[in-house]
Amino acid sequence: MYVVTHPTRPIGGQKPGTSGLRKKTKVFMTPHYVENFIQATFDAIGGARGKTFVIGGDGRYFNAQAIQVILRMAAANGAARCIVGMGGLLSTPAASNLIRVREADGGLILSASHNPGGIDEDFGIKYNTANGGPAPESVTEAIFNRTKTLSRYNIIEKQDVDLNALGEATLGDMVVEIVHPVTDYAALMSFLFDFNAIRALFASGFTMRFDAMHAVTGPYAHAILEEQLGAAPGTVVNGVPSPDFGGGHPDPNPVWASGLMTLMMGPDAPDFGAASDGDGDRNMIVGRGIYVTPSDSLAVLAANAHLAPGYTDGLMGIARSMPTSRAADRVAEKLGIPAFETPTGWKFFGNLLDDGQATLCGEESAGTGSDHVREKDGLWAVLLWLNILAVRKQSVSDMLNEHWATYGRNYYSRHDYEGVNAGAAERMITDLRERLSTLPGTAYGPLSVIEADDFAYTDPVDGSVSEHQGIRIILTQGARIVMRLSGTGTVGATLRVYLEQVEEDPSRFDRDPQDALSDVIAAAEAIASIRETTGRDAPDVRT
Ligand code: G6P
Ligand code: ZN
Repeated sequence: MYVVTHPTRPIGGQKPGTSGLRKKTKVFMTPHYVENFIQATFDAIGGARGKTFVIGGDGRYFNAQAIQVILRMAAANGAARCIVGMGGLLSTPAASNLIRVREADGGLILSASHNPGGIDEDFGIKYNTANGGPAPESVTEAIFNRTKTLSRYNIIEKQDVDLNALGEATLGDMVVEIVHPVTDYAALMSFLFDFNAIRALFASGFTMRFDAMHAVTGPYAHAILEEQLGAAPGTVVNGVPSPDFGGGHPDPNPVWASGLMTLMMGPDAPDFGAASDGDGDRNMIVGRGIYVTPSDSLAVLAANAHLAPGYTDGLMGIARSMPTSRAADRVAEKLGIPAFETPTGWKFFGNLLDDGQATLCGEESAGTGSDHVREKDGLWAVLLWLNILAVRKQSVSDMLNEHWATYGRNYYSRHDYEGVNAGAAERMITDLRERLSTLPGTAYGPLSVIEADDFAYTDPVDGSVSEHQGIRIILTQGARIVMRLSGTGTVGATLRVYLEQVEEDPSRFDRDPQDALSDVIAAAEAIASIRETTGRDAPDVRT
């Protein structure tokens, strides 16, 4: 095998963010960019020699080219085997599952998640460790540090591997195994959920629309929902992955999945609607005439998970990211199990899941998952909902209202200010941080501040500390304001303001969340002068 050791120079800015290294596609296409990052990754994990990696991506522009480079570099660095999804496709949860079932040493996932794809849009590379989860900060730091000193990378000169030929081939001394992306994942789902009950639900006339948003879950949803569970043909829409996601924004929220929302709020709505993002780890759930916020979805799933075969023994604990509404905490309290509050980013759930302290996890950013893999899992959430609906034989709307009647309704909304001046946004957060101790006791309309802090997290398993994870302001009447800067944007800064208030009175469960939260919204403006800082009259996105 002829290995070329190519001289190179450090490239600035190769710092993995909340979820891997994410940049404009054209940045990844600059000379040596992918090569440097991959070599730094291999070096940071103690080399690739003798190791097995899982490789796949969401099919966005540059997916296949990046995979060919990674394969040549894995071979040159002495890897024993790479397991690749056919066509270069693997949803993020399916990749996590493959790493685990094949006991691989790690995996490389090519995706920029819900960000648009294409030559002028975004690309990303994320390294996952042997537990199937995103690399912890200690590893991503080591990768970043290595990118700063890199002076060579190893690659072999070979023809491209045929990513569509199922089975084994060799590349230099390394085995490349092409697997069907859906097979192992579908097997896991059929183990966790009562497929017979869901089949009976569809057979009884239950209708659904699943919007794959031209992204990676199309093949998974076709195979599982339509072929295995008997949902009517046409249930899955936008089901063929395309390199630019049909020119859209593969983010399953009411704004970007507006077609699905319009259908679900209209006269021809099916019983159930769902969508998933670019790489298949996020989900959106909508009932006929009712949108389920990700925070409520986590709470409802936690309260009902025992109805699905994979969770009949109950949950060890429930974990949510700090900005996620506290609806799930109320369920945990009732179940008498621990509730965990972690920083934003799925990787923070990894230790809790590995250690058996949490079974279900969720984030306001449309991520829900469990200990079945170490990533959030869009289709899993959809199937758990279907399983619960099949057992409870209720509409989504009745289920939500019953849930709120039991636990109270945590009204919730996130306001995003996108592409704002990074310096100004950072100054705003720093300034708030300095004023935190002056806030308790101050009143804003009917609300007053109980406590305010700069969220820091001590991992209960390994004791690692993550500081400055967002400003948390707790107010009276079950209200809360959280502010943080996004860790996934690629242009300027995105300020996220998360607003929450609890309502216990069932006669007030059907309010527009923006109205129900008007006092909290006003308090956030008064405390942080958001309009002045951002120069905007209103948020760009309200979820
Ligand atoms: C990615 C991560 C999520 C996280 C989200 C937050 O999707 O996988 O775990 O919640 O980013 O993004 P933000 O832009 O708010 O940092
Ligand atoms: Zn994603």
